[in-house]
Amino acid sequence: MSPIVASIIRQFADLALCGDVCSWVPIKPYQNALAARRRLQDALVGLYRRIDQHQNGKPIDYDAEMDDIGQVAIERHRLFAQYNVPISDRGKFELGTLWAQNANTQPLIFWLILFVYSTPGLVEELRSEVRQFVPPVTELNRTGSDSVDLAGLKHKCPLLKSVFLETFRVVSQPTSMRYITQPMSVFDGHRHRHLQPGTWISVPHGGTQQDPSIFANPTSFQPGRFVKSDEKTGNISVDYGRLKPWGAGAGICKGRVLAEKQVLAIVACCIMMWDIEPVNQDGWKLPGMIPTTAVMRPSHGVRTAGENTGSRVGVNIEGNIKCSN
Ligand code: HEM
Repeated sequence: MSPIVASIIRQFADLALCGDVCSWVPIKPYQNALAARRRLQDALVGLYRRIDQHQNGKPIDYDAEMDDIGQVAIERHRLFAQYNVPISDRGKFELGTLWAQNANTQPLIFWLILFVYSTPGLVEELRSEVRQFVPPVTELNRTGSDSVDLAGLKHKCPLLKSVFLETFRVVSQPTSMRYITQPMSVFDGHRHRHLQPGTWISVPHGGTQQDPSIFANPTSFQPGRFVKSDEKTGNISVDYGRLKPWGAGAGICKGRVLAEKQVLAIVACCIMMWDIEPVNQDGWKLPGMIPTTAVMRPSHGVRTAGENTGSRVGVNIEGNIKCSN
């Protein structure tokens, strides 16, 4: 994604933290977020107008190149057209998905890579685990169709999966927000709480993540925390336990299967391809964390120097996402 679009999405994300505020309220981040929302919606309306023109053989605005439009956008155009959704509304629909797709995946990958390289010995352990699923191919024997074995990364790399979950535990504070449509009563362990229709309830899942009775030594990053070994059989498994990085219930994240595959594939390829170290002479210094609606944003970037390990990988993520689970 272009850095400009990424920065507009970040500005837009502040809207979620401002809550239900009137649009005229002169709070700068809020006004910036509203402006960012308009820009993103307009850009998406423009995109869907051009797809419509392209699909119907009409002249295309700005003579835009349409060869690289993804199949997902084309299929969504088809559905919008089938249900007569006006083009001016398509951008509004698509903004939610654009945000959901980009708000958490990229920052999670940032933190995960940072933890992997800054924890002594971890990158070597992970390399030996993922090696067989991310074939290292040199320039000479690259075939152009080398692929990442996503099922292998997901089911046969317990340390990678555990590091993925431990990163979530440390850097994510997801909250499920629900609108109450009918009177209901919830027992909080001490008393019954009566919830009125027309109000909202917010469930911050992050509370348990720093609770030492649930996660021992919660302030330390423990790569193997989620790996469980069966005492009788010795079988290894990775269990989310009380962690709820995707929210819960009917509104749980709809992109979680895709997101997990994206993150595991990108991180596995990165660690096979790159040796990374901090430019800072004092070693790794992790940035502060700025709360969002789920994965926290780093307070600043980290300057690193990277060297190619010499084992290039050709990645065909799309093909594997289609055929593996
Ligand atoms: C690491 C990446 C991601 C994280 C941590 C994440 C997390 C979340 C969370 C916490 C929610 C709210 C769940 C709740 O209300 O209980 C959510 C909702 C949602 N996410 Fe994700 N998400 C990620 C990636 C994605 C991707 C890639 C997509 C789409 C391709 C996506 C699509 C959605 C959608 C559509 C919803 C709204 C679901 C609903 O209201 O029914 N997410 N996500």
